[in-house]
Amino acid sequence: GKERTLAMIKPDGVSGNYTDEIKRIIFEAGFDIVKEMLTELDKETASAFYEEHSSRSFFSHLVTYMTSGPVFVMVLEKRNGVSDWRGLIGPTDAKKAKISHPHSIRALCGKDSQRNCVHGSDSTSSAEREIKFFSMDVISGDIDSEH
Ligand code: CMP
Repeated sequence: GKERTLAMIKPDGVSGNYTDEIKRIIFEAGFDIVKEMLTELDKETASAFYEEHSSRSFFSHLVTYMTSGPVFVMVLEKRNGVSDWRGLIGPTDAKKAKISHPHSIRALCGKDSQRNCVHGSDSTSSAEREIKFFSMDVISGDIDSEH
């Protein structure tokens, strides 16, 4: 059946004006965007979102990066959506992505292993957690993208 996953355009992707191009890639790949929002993460929110990385050496840099500007968060839906979105964004290290996955989104707009432009849930359980984290599992009064 269809799966939902959490996708996010990180601050470098939003400030680099990649949002429209990434949304075009998303639609061309057959995803529906069932919810979307432009928001900004504060330190507490970014730290909680990346809690599993809290013991890593890069954690404080990651939090600084993720709070450096607006992010564009989306709930995507498609058959096999979790792994298909991970495939579309490419490897974590954008430098490697440019060589091994030149058509990936991270090759398009990422810079290195930190500034990799986009996020994707790594499993269906992560997707469920992350969609709830951003309260994007509830139908609000907003008009969402429904294609
Ligand atoms: P993502 O895989 O979406 O989630 C964890 C993030 O931590 C990752 O993207 C990068 O932005 C960042 N990250 C992962 N590995 C490194 C690293 N070696 N150095 C700096 N940042 C990293």
